[in-house]
Amino acid sequence: MSTLITNVGELVTNAPPDVGPGSDGAGGFASISAAALVMEAGRVAWIGPASRAPAADHIVDARGRAVLPGFVDSHAHLVFAGERGEEFAARMAGAPYRAGGIASTVTATRKATDPELRAGLRRLVAEMLRQGTTTFECKSGYGLTVADEARSVSLAAEVTAEVTFLGAHIVPPEFDGDTAGYIDLVCGPMLDACAPLSRWVDVFCERGAFDADEATAVLRAGQAQGLAPRVHANQLGPGPGVQVAVQAGAASADHCTHLTSDDVDALAGSSTVATLLPGVEFSTRQPYPDARRLLEAGVTVALATDCNPGSCFTSSMALCVALAVREMHMTTREAVWSATAGGARALRRADVGHLDVGARADIVMLDGPSHSYLAYRPGVPLVAAVWRDAELAWGSTG
Ligand code: NIG
Ligand code: FE
Repeated sequence: MSTLITNVGELVTNAPPDVGPGSDGAGGFASISAAALVMEAGRVAWIGPASRAPAADHIVDARGRAVLPGFVDSHAHLVFAGERGEEFAARMAGAPYRAGGIASTVTATRKATDPELRAGLRRLVAEMLRQGTTTFECKSGYGLTVADEARSVSLAAEVTAEVTFLGAHIVPPEFDGDTAGYIDLVCGPMLDACAPLSRWVDVFCERGAFDADEATAVLRAGQAQGLAPRVHANQLGPGPGVQVAVQAGAASADHCTHLTSDDVDALAGSSTVATLLPGVEFSTRQPYPDARRLLEAGVTVALATDCNPGSCFTSSMALCVALAVREMHMTTREAVWSATAGGARALRRADVGHLDVGARADIVMLDGPSHSYLAYRPGVPLVAAVWRDAELAWGSTG
């Protein structure tokens, strides 16, 4: 069955300017006004001016509203139990964010049953879909035993293809003083148990977590088992994370809050995406990353939520877009590109993040005429309808 969405006020394609008639490509962002789109068999089958829209089995009148590629949230920690609202409240009253808070979620996660973890995970996945996220990455990292990490990746694999093994999140309390012993566990039996269901290997390379040598050892061990690397880098202070990521050929260096010129140069000379997570700075009162410096150096920038119970408990890509525009001085076009096509680059996915013929028909219709409403109307639930693989997955088309 084919579906035509017509009378689209602005169709964000993120496709090269010559693909759509009248498109106005700029820095990767591209859109067509007064547009239409046909989807069929899970894919985009046609795009062009509404005046030339072909017939279809089913017609949706967008009535001037904007249509975008579904958001690609390339960084999320969704398998956990418990919550840390009091830690957040203390931070807002002046306490600093500390990586050690992760340990309290590890304790709660280890105690939880599989059904409890699955219910929490599915609640967050549904919440993301309602807000227009159609592709998302999901990390382990709150289990930190072989069995608890294995069940975390197994639960994540129930809801996404983008599963990341993050056994090297922190050193758990039972290995206190024996980081080397924990690294051996992560690179040995834990990786053996998790690799079959994972696509990615990640490490928190930060003072208080893992240093450059430890992080490199974890990434190499993951690569040897066919996993592709990504890194939590330079979140809490300057450090080696970005260099480790670039040297490992990581798909993405995430956070990038505290960068030196050498870090920016290394990213600019690489295929590693800088994934910025402005919800974290919002929720930890840290300075925002310098997105303009990265963009001006030619670095590919993605935006993601980092949804987790500690440093940032939002699942809203729209909030990340609004923060990127307001606080990081990204243009609305740059921010929307980074939250869609940028996220796809960070996950090395060619089928999502853009809407041209052949792309996966993962689509969001906004209650607003332009992509800029995501930042112009912050905090307002603007997602009217979401299609995944050309099927209406949430919302209504009326
Ligand atoms: O990306 N930085 C490490 N991991 C998470 C925080 C997780 C937590 O505080 O529970 C992050 O911010
Ligand atoms: Fe994270």
